[in-house]
Amino acid sequence: MNARVEQLKSTVSETKATDIRAAFAADPARFSKYSVTLDDILFDYSKCAVNERILHGLEALATEAGVAKKRDAMFAGEPINFTEGRAVLHTALRNLANTPVLVDGKDVMPDVNAVLAAMGAFSDGIRSGTLKGATGKKITDVINIGIGGSDLGPVMATLALAPDHDGPRLHFVSNIDGAHIADTLKLLNAETSLFIVASKTFTTIETMTNAATARKFIADALGDAAVANHFCAVSTALDKVAAFGIGAERVFGFWDWVGGRYSIWSAIGLPLMIAIGKEKFGEFLAGAHAIDEHFKSAPLRQNIPMLLGLLGYYHRNVLGYATRAILPYDQRLSRFPAYLQQLDMESNGKGVTLDGKPVDGNSGPVVWGEPGTNGQHAFYQLIHQGTSVIPAEFMIAANGHEPELRHQHQLLMANCLAQSEALMKGRTLEEAKAQMASKGMDAASIDKIAPHRVFTGNRPSLTFVYDKMTPFAFGRLVAIYEHRVFVEGALFDINSFDQWGVELGKELATGLLPVVEGKESAAGHDSSTEGLVAALLKAAK
Ligand code: F6P
Repeated sequence: MNARVEQLKSTVSETKATDIRAAFAADPARFSKYSVTLDDILFDYSKCAVNERILHGLEALATEAGVAKKRDAMFAGEPINFTEGRAVLHTALRNLANTPVLVDGKDVMPDVNAVLAAMGAFSDGIRSGTLKGATGKKITDVINIGIGGSDLGPVMATLALAPDHDGPRLHFVSNIDGAHIADTLKLLNAETSLFIVASKTFTTIETMTNAATARKFIADALGDAAVANHFCAVSTALDKVAAFGIGAERVFGFWDWVGGRYSIWSAIGLPLMIAIGKEKFGEFLAGAHAIDEHFKSAPLRQNIPMLLGLLGYYHRNVLGYATRAILPYDQRLSRFPAYLQQLDMESNGKGVTLDGKPVDGNSGPVVWGEPGTNGQHAFYQLIHQGTSVIPAEFMIAANGHEPELRHQHQLLMANCLAQSEALMKGRTLEEAKAQMASKGMDAASIDKIAPHRVFTGNRPSLTFVYDKMTPFAFGRLVAIYEHRVFVEGALFDINSFDQWGVELGKELATGLLPVVEGKESAAGHDSSTEGLVAALLKAAK
């Protein structure tokens, strides 16, 4: 692997691959060579620093790392999340072909279909008003209480599919900070509110604490008995849900082979289903299923998640870029970068390989971003002229949902395309000088100012274009990124499906709670922690 990476580094310098601008000038067919079409999706990676030799090298890397074999093992339900002894089968949740998917010899599809049907009946009941609050009123507000994968997926998806939202209002409470639930409760009428407690483990302190606060809100307003009508739960831990007091008919299960950050397709998607209805939720699943089939069968040079993963690995480990920016030109994808942060960084932010050795090179990059055009007026300066190269990932629909605002969509498209063109082309010193001269600037000023107006260019980006952000299109986009994370994890040779890295902080927080409550001394902690505790307690009222 290491030898292959070194070879790729040599190929980059021998072929001057990072001179993307020159590559475009030399080859008029570059776009058609380095772009892929799948139905209405166009994936353009021609503005990345690739050429035939590099793509062959990356293909060889994928073969050596056994990416296709690992992919097939995932779809086959093998326990590839070996540190937790689990299969990884979020793909079964959207297996609309309904072909058997075996875990320990048992077909999981009947259970998957049964939960989906129960979610459908429940969401129909809430949407139509046949399932009412304790005082007989229709539910107008649904509040999802969850965190991480039990929050980011539904919150991001509900925003993304806002044009399809015709169900009750949705709210999301995640943070342990009491401000989050307090601000939400202020907006609610207990009689018309339904709380969904969403937690895979049903032990997460944030979710359990917020659920207890919400329960008190209902009990104080309507009495204890009303809790039954105003709560439901989504979890793999059915015994713990029962202990909380939520009736079995209001509990939607999923399974340990669904990772939290891959769970939007499971009952964790219930808020989305309530918002858009079960039919459109089905279209969302269908979009992801279409990508699963594509990922399994398309040849590498046509396979969008494979190419995206290989490019991600190339950027991180061959070219050494430490971050990547997710830049959707779609305001409704405003939480997509945050969603991908969890998906990608919780999956691939690992330091040891499958056999417990230090990762050879780097694992996953820092993922961040904001929708365009807002980001253009904030951090794009650094992407264009800063000293770090940051691969940018653009996404744009050909059609917005507001035909009456077509001109605004045209401005959006023009901006998106302008950014990737500017990143690639840049502006040379000569071009900067010529431009200034054409505006009548004097020679001395030109010499002084021109260097500040230079853009190095050759900054990589890739772009997704699609017809319109429908539930189907959205399901495809999310699944493409899921599989991209898989491909990169396979190349890093890590387990992308555990998350031990979040444990230590949780353990220490448990130990620090009695300290900040003033019940235990901070002695024994490091002097910084001791000092911080003292300052907080001194100021506490
Ligand atoms: O942050 C760790 C984590 O376990 C995530 O992987 C998960 O999505 C989140 O916490 C919430 O967990 P749960 O759904 O069990 O409450």
